[in-house]
Amino acid sequence: MGLVVEKIDAACGAVVRGIDLTKPLSQCAIDAIREAWLKHHVLVFPEQGLNDDDLENFTLCFGPFGDDPFIAPIEGRKHVIAVKRDADEKSPIFAESWHTDWSFQRTPPAGTCLFGIDIPPHGGDTHFANQHLALERMPSELREKLEGKEAIHSARLPYGRQGVYGESDAPVRSMDIRASDDAMAEQRHPIIRKHPETGREGIFGCVGYITGFADMDETESMSLLAELYAWQGREEFVYTHRWVPNMLVMWDNRSVLHKATGGYDGYARLLHRTTIGAR
Ligand code: SIN
Repeated sequence: MGLVVEKIDAACGAVVRGIDLTKPLSQCAIDAIREAWLKHHVLVFPEQGLNDDDLENFTLCFGPFGDDPFIAPIEGRKHVIAVKRDADEKSPIFAESWHTDWSFQRTPPAGTCLFGIDIPPHGGDTHFANQHLALERMPSELREKLEGKEAIHSARLPYGRQGVYGESDAPVRSMDIRASDDAMAEQRHPIIRKHPETGREGIFGCVGYITGFADMDETESMSLLAELYAWQGREEFVYTHRWVPNMLVMWDNRSVLHKATGGYDGYARLLHRTTIGAR
């Protein structure tokens, strides 16, 4: 069977079958996956028995490794991080609010690959929100407020020393997160941005990594970011991904927001993650 791409009945996402990702991929297969990724923004590859070498090899088919700050890689790897939670862990769920990975970087990553290893029997879904669609359907009054605005991105709120994953969080979390003063740096990106490969306009980022807008006071910025956040995560833009073990998901950080969910207390959850850098 050749590569088959089946669109998911949601605002984004497709399931890809007919390919074994443990084997070297032909250029033709890589091109077909890239085309599907740019079209559907989230690709799901079920029944893939990947090890970390396979995961890294797959990632490198689509760009260089991205730079993953603040989370230590797993032992013996430079580019694989563990998204994990122990069965008895009490820390807040990691990444439980909308975001696009590392949007505070000067050149944020193109995509992320996440491979399911230990998956709880219920809960732990990942949500994706299509930010092209969110812009296309945006009321003109909101769009007018955003047009031409530069958003200020920073890792301060999650990864600063006093942040959500800062020094008081580390002792209760199984993930190896390293808060740092580097999180205080700021980077600007247009809030409405053309996708670097497709040219399609979308909303880039949301409150969390976005801490305000350039040339706007804090109160006004926060009110606009709250209005935007309520819009960009609406149900009509969302695909809810249910995991099973041995499933690889690859998403386009330039097109979608994503967030983790809980609901699996008493069960462990482990996924390995790589980042696809921009080319
Ligand atoms: C992430 O944001 O990389 C984590 C997503 C998840 O745990 O579902």
